[in-house]
Amino acid sequence: MKYSRFGQKFTSESGIVNLMEDLGEALNVNPDIIFMGGGNPAKIPAMESLFAEKLQQVIDDDEARHKLLGVYQSPQGDEVFCELAAKLLNEEFGWPISAKNIGISNGSQSAFFVLFNMFAGEFSDGSHKTIQLPLAPEYLGYADVGLSENFFKATRPTIELLENREFKYHVDFDQLVVDDSTGALCVSRPTNPTGNVLSDEEIAKLDKIARAKGIPLIIDAAYGTPFPSIIFEDVTPHWNDNTIVVLSLSKLGLPGARTGIVVANEEIIKDFSNINSLTCLSSGNLGPAIAKPLFVDGEVLRASREIVKPFYRQRAKLAADAFREAMGDLPFYIHKPEGAIFLWLWFKDLPITCQLLYQRLKAKGVLVAAGHHCFVGLDEDWQHRHECIRVTYCLDEKILYQGVELIADEVRKAYAGE
Ligand SMILES: Cc1ncc(COP(=O)(O)O)c(C=O)c1O
Repeated sequence: MKYSRFGQKFTSESGIVNLMEDLGEALNVNPDIIFMGGGNPAKIPAMESLFAEKLQQVIDDDEARHKLLGVYQSPQGDEVFCELAAKLLNEEFGWPISAKNIGISNGSQSAFFVLFNMFAGEFSDGSHKTIQLPLAPEYLGYADVGLSENFFKATRPTIELLENREFKYHVDFDQLVVDDSTGALCVSRPTNPTGNVLSDEEIAKLDKIARAKGIPLIIDAAYGTPFPSIIFEDVTPHWNDNTIVVLSLSKLGLPGARTGIVVANEEIIKDFSNINSLTCLSSGNLGPAIAKPLFVDGEVLRASREIVKPFYRQRAKLAADAFREAMGDLPFYIHKPEGAIFLWLWFKDLPITCQLLYQRLKAKGVLVAAGHHCFVGLDEDWQHRHECIRVTYCLDEKILYQGVELIADEVRKAYAGE
């Protein structure tokens, strides 16, 4: 059977598909694997009970149950949920928005597919535009969503070495090229894979550049504020009518509900909803049904700040301390954990590639994410991209420690030339 270009492009090797296969195998087929690779949020019992309680209320209510199971939502998404989300963002951050600025998607991943292809790719005048990722490395899930080739461009960051074996990437504005072939800028804040949080100053500069070019700045806030609030730095959330902020219920603990929330100007939301209807008729009801009561009285904010954030902050510290101890004096660094659910480890001058390290670790029963996949859109070869791995710390503590020991052992062997 022959596939179209679309069919060929979307069935070929892809980092995110491999990662999701690893995830599926570890979580569903072979649970003995120490799975430090994927982006599944941790199981936080207090959050699960909260969701269960809200879901039970929906199930027990005739009308609400029918709305959950028996109706298609309107293209933009559950109206009440859009109202509540707008109100929350308005009250929390003073963003001048209404329900018309909110669009619901089946997970934020599908929102990125639509948004990126709205702003980049082939244009009717024959030109081709790209999505610029100003701070490589970026979320590997972006890598293959473009309908055309050469869809992303990225800028190599500067590296600041910090105390305590830490380092931090910064946007290198001297190298950032935004020209007529740029369709939009996109950053995840906090960043998957590194846990970096772009400073207010960096965001203000990117905003200025985007406005000057008349292109949107897309901010992926899957881990950000106001929920799930897995952000350990005190930074200001940013939105204006040239910015598209994409939120998600996944990292709050609801990845199974597949709910993304797009916040943009009314025109973009209208067009986004149009495409959403074409591709999936309407978004699922489960996420909004569970989240609505949490949004009514701001409980989602309390839970994010008092349960979710402290949980991940404590885990990040525990994992970073464990790696520092296990690695001893090996030349390794951790990206400063400022948010999200991962540690990004850099093994300076590692004699083997991170892909080979990934394979060796897999053979030992530990799955990590090889870092080179995350330098989406960065064409130049850069040794650094083969020296990093991403590990999640959303594991049971005991298993996390076992994983850290196995990784340290394998890395030590690699430096010893074994
Ligand atoms: C930075 C980032 N953006 C978007 C997503 C997509 O999440 P979802 O489709 O579950 O909302 C993820 C998932 O891991 C992510 O890490």
